Amino acid sequence: MKNFTPGEIWPDNKGVHINAHGGGILFVDNTYYWYGEHKTAGEAGNVANVGVHCYSSKDLYNWKDEGVVLTVMPEGSGSDIEQGCILERPKVIHNTKTGQYAMWFHLEPKGLGYLGARSGIAVSDNPTGPFTFIKSVRPNAGHWPKNFPDELKEMPVRAEGYRFDGGSIPAHPDTLNIVKRDLEEGQMARDMTLFVDDDGKAYHIYSSEENSTLHIARLTDDYLDHSGEYARFFVGRFMEAPALFKKGGKYYLMASGCTGWAPNEARSAVADHIWGPWKEMGNPCQGEEAYRTFRSQSTYIFPLAGKEDQFIYMGDRWTPTDAIDGRYIWLPIRFDEERFFIDWQESWSL
Ligand code: GAL
Repeated sequence: MKNFTPGEIWPDNKGVHINAHGGGILFVDNTYYWYGEHKTAGEAGNVANVGVHCYSSKDLYNWKDEGVVLTVMPEGSGSDIEQGCILERPKVIHNTKTGQYAMWFHLEPKGLGYLGARSGIAVSDNPTGPFTFIKSVRPNAGHWPKNFPDELKEMPVRAEGYRFDGGSIPAHPDTLNIVKRDLEEGQMARDMTLFVDDDGKAYHIYSSEENSTLHIARLTDDYLDHSGEYARFFVGRFMEAPALFKKGGKYYLMASGCTGWAPNEARSAVADHIWGPWKEMGNPCQGEEAYRTFRSQSTYIFPLAGKEDQFIYMGDRWTPTDAIDGRYIWLPIRFDEERFFIDWQESWSL
């Protein structure tokens, strides 16, 4: 293959449609690694029956199946990642200090729907695994966001009984109260991505506060924990599917709205510093079906190796009734002044 055909079947080296949904890319040793959710057939394929699948490529068109690199635990094992749990949007980053590969994902322990709102962490010495599951957490337990007003820290918790199982219905109107409610247990974390800055600091970006608000949280130096330093952005905007990248010293974010598997209009934002202020720049998509992100939802945006100004948008065209048939929408990013754009193309090449 020598071009990208967004939305079509994308065969791997064995001729099988790539099975790495909600994925992300790692570039290391001149090789791209694509990690994503291994889906199975039918609606039940929206839960984790297998684990996280990895593929490798030198040219981004042709992908070699590297197998399942994090495997869910057998039914009845009681593990946080027991088969039938929800394990979404896995991302892998390489820690050049420890030499290890850290995998983070959104985890919903089995049988609780989307109420868990946890983050899973796994580690490996090799990009192709096997990854060992370490633990799952609610981020930043006991720590206030750095942009939380001091005078509100003593407020009574009013959002106590408020629990909402995902989706786009407004959260409790007082999102600061949700932060306080979750202070001891840790903040909620659903849709997520990871980002490593030029200085080696890594960040976990996740939908929190009943999905209403995005958190950006710095990881510890080994990338295997939260550092306790985090801040809240896009309050009450219900942003999901975050993808964060950096170009020319500026930070860019793409995210979706919050409508489950159904596509919606994407958002974009720009900042001079990861801790903001972040400025929303509107829908980056242009052309046919731009109003619903070309029937996709963002999952990752990554730079072409050795090309500082070329980035690729990676999105999922979900097929919830037959999860394994989900398609991939990859398109180039175009920059114009402060903004970035994504133009629909049926077929394109680098
Ligand atoms: C989407 C989210 C997906 C998945 C889905 C479940 O909004 O981005 O990762 O969680 O909801 O309905």
